Amino acid sequence: MAHGKRGDMVVHEEEPYNAEPPPVALAGRRLTDMDAFYSRNHGPIPCLDGPTWRLEVGGLVAHQLDLSVDHLRHRYPEQTLVATLQCAGNRRKGLLQFGDIPGEAPWGAAAISTAEWTGVRLSDLLSDAELHPDAEHVEFLAADIAQGAAPAQPYGSSIPVEKALAGEVLLAWAMNGEPLPAAHGAPVRIVVPGYIGARSVKWVRRIRVLGHPSDNYFQAVAYRLPSAHADTCGAEPDSGVALEAVALNSDILSPDDGACLPAGPVTVSGYALAADAREIARVEVSTDDGRTWRQARLENERSRWAWCHWRLTVDVPPGQVRIVARAWDSLGRTQPESAEQLWNPKGYMNNSCPRVHITAASE
Ligand code: MTE
Repeated sequence: MAHGKRGDMVVHEEEPYNAEPPPVALAGRRLTDMDAFYSRNHGPIPCLDGPTWRLEVGGLVAHQLDLSVDHLRHRYPEQTLVATLQCAGNRRKGLLQFGDIPGEAPWGAAAISTAEWTGVRLSDLLSDAELHPDAEHVEFLAADIAQGAAPAQPYGSSIPVEKALAGEVLLAWAMNGEPLPAAHGAPVRIVVPGYIGARSVKWVRRIRVLGHPSDNYFQAVAYRLPSAHADTCGAEPDSGVALEAVALNSDILSPDDGACLPAGPVTVSGYALAADAREIARVEVSTDDGRTWRQARLENERSRWAWCHWRLTVDVPPGQVRIVARAWDSLGRTQPESAEQLWNPKGYMNNSCPRVHITAASE
């Protein structure tokens, strides 16, 4: 089992390790099993020593901090929060029929997972450090070296100071009640609920308060939404839009695309995730190309920061059937109908209505 993951992970890259579980491993589970949680890495997974690990907090602050895991545990109140992480490349596969996306893994429906995270609030550390009035962004720098960055550099990222001060951003040392595994950032990672996974920096060792966004490759060049016509080979730093909050999204986890099933009742299930600070209001399913829709049952309580699983049994006639779903949020917004208009050269942020084609056989 590579990196503690189940044997049937879909491995997009062995080194650095990039893998997602088969969709069925996510279905109906509010918390993702640790061995099924997707793993997205830009460099080799470092093995850091918890007892000697230190975190420096500096930059535009009145007091620099130098903290061990014990300091974090004893100086600040412990927090636990259920939050979904979703890679900006989740569902990229659905964009590939509209154009090539060279150099990026064809992630399916499962570059998304949910855990109960335990740690301390970033805002508690920042209030100890006292922010300078010019503070605009909070940067996280990690221990892993990304060889694919230009130039090769430690992974890093930043978030606006308003988000950093919101109570939901954690420095986490436990996941689903267990110590954070090496693959997910041990001994301590950042968790930024509601933002693309790239901002949840693993193996964090420095926090710097800045008057501008981080100039790290993963903030200034990668994880930016280019225009559909951009030439990403020679991407200029700061071109495109830096991705922050995730968009309203959903996908179908069962049945599989291309499945052959007996005609009759078929249970369709999946997940839905609301954008930053919203909730899922409902999920609908159509088996007649959107002429009529039926409402699915939402399976767990709705949360601002975590996905909601849904399920509906539909009656499927013999033949080819296209199943389409769409989620609505608490502001009355729904997902874009087609992935075609969302295609971009890096294949980020596909939040189009999910579709699977099945063949239903008469008994
Ligand atoms: N942090 C570091 N240090 N190095 C990385 O490569 N990948 C980011 C983020 N944090 C990354 C990182 C990306 S792109 C995502 S989607 C999430 O971690 C994935 O977190 P996971 O591997 O725990 O699922």
